[in-house]
Amino acid sequence: MDSGNSLVSKADLSIEIPPFLSTAFLHAAHIFFPPTIFSLILPLTDSAESPISPFAMHELPFKPDAPWLAPLAGYSDLPFRMLCRSFGAACCVTEMVSAKGLVYGGHGTARLLTSDAGDAPLVVQLFGSEPAIFDRAMPLLLERGFTHFDLNCGCSVRKVTKGGSGSALMAKPALLLAIVEVMLRHAGPGRVGVKLRLGSAPGEKNYLDMGQRLADLGAGWLALHPRTARQLFGGAADWSAIGTLARAVSIPVLASGDLFTAETAARCLAETGCAGVMFARGALIDPMIFQRLKDILAGRESAQRTPESLAATTSLHIELARNLDGTPRALRALRAFLPRYAKGFSGIRALRQAFLQCGSWEELEDTAGRIAGLCEDAAPDDESDGPDVSDLADLSD
Ligand SMILES: Cc1cc2nc3c(=O)[nH]c(=O)nc-3n(C[C@H](O)[C@H](O)[C@H](O)COP(=O)(O)O)c2cc1C
Repeated sequence: MDSGNSLVSKADLSIEIPPFLSTAFLHAAHIFFPPTIFSLILPLTDSAESPISPFAMHELPFKPDAPWLAPLAGYSDLPFRMLCRSFGAACCVTEMVSAKGLVYGGHGTARLLTSDAGDAPLVVQLFGSEPAIFDRAMPLLLERGFTHFDLNCGCSVRKVTKGGSGSALMAKPALLLAIVEVMLRHAGPGRVGVKLRLGSAPGEKNYLDMGQRLADLGAGWLALHPRTARQLFGGAADWSAIGTLARAVSIPVLASGDLFTAETAARCLAETGCAGVMFARGALIDPMIFQRLKDILAGRESAQRTPESLAATTSLHIELARNLDGTPRALRALRAFLPRYAKGFSGIRALRQAFLQCGSWEELEDTAGRIAGLCEDAAPDDESDGPDVSDLADLSD
């Protein structure tokens, strides 16, 4: 089902352009979300459909060696998605988008939906709690060319749950189903997925019942983060529930939860029999995790995490963010984010300070180049060798 970057073949381009470079090219002049971007893409397509949607050409991949990038509020923006795609992410999910924000033109919603032709296949994740709002939001998304959608039933941050959205929907099965029914009516069968938690609290685990009812309704896939809403990110993800759900429903189930390394993901796939995995915090720590999983499953040796490879990854992220976004906000966000890539290497503490002081894209690029000079065999001067996820868990879901 993995259709790859079919826009390029549809477009009948005779030159091979890596997806992220073609994207960077298209955005060099700060071209933003449709209709502008589509008007640029339109002359390249041979489809007779109108309006022509590049996203519509992609079906979604559900295979062990087709790892997804999970929805990550504050992180899974267009540049990061393109970075992950360049390392083998087979499908990406946007940051969560408020259905209400879409309908009322909320501040920041347009930015969350910035995408382009190389950014496919793509799933737009929505959150909300009112079927009537989804009824108005869905046509807006379809008009803009998006074809696949996900309902967020996993986010446990107060800001989201206090309005009855995110994981609060796990406690209201009828409402959850009503929203998905509306989404499916607009998008079509199989084009809507749902990201679930186990349930609201330990005694209220209803993921299995919900999963079966969603499959019956026509949902295309399910993703399960196997913790209860009350757990937030505490304790271990209960992968056994992923296996239970995967065996119980006829639609693909994607695993999410504590997949910090490719080896862990391979183990999760083997233990649960799920269709595929979604990397979340694991991708924020190491965007090459997608390729590593593919390597493991193909019996290949995976590339080492060296200062040079980390410097290259960091530079690529900067280039993508500069070309695809380029705002001072994006620059500020990267200053704090980028040192995470080189965590555990000796010298990173000083470099972290240097990143924080960068006032321009050029300074950011120069500082990224210094990662190659970090020492990998000396004792790390960081707090720990383990994945740095504690701050991330506080941010969302
Ligand atoms: C910073 C951050 C932001 C997240 N944002 C979202 C989101 O917008 N929507 C969602 O469904 N889950 C969100 N999640 C949850 C992840 O998609 C994922 O299910 C969770 O982190 C468990 O996977 P992991 O343990 O491998 O990180 C977020 C998690 C983190 C850490």
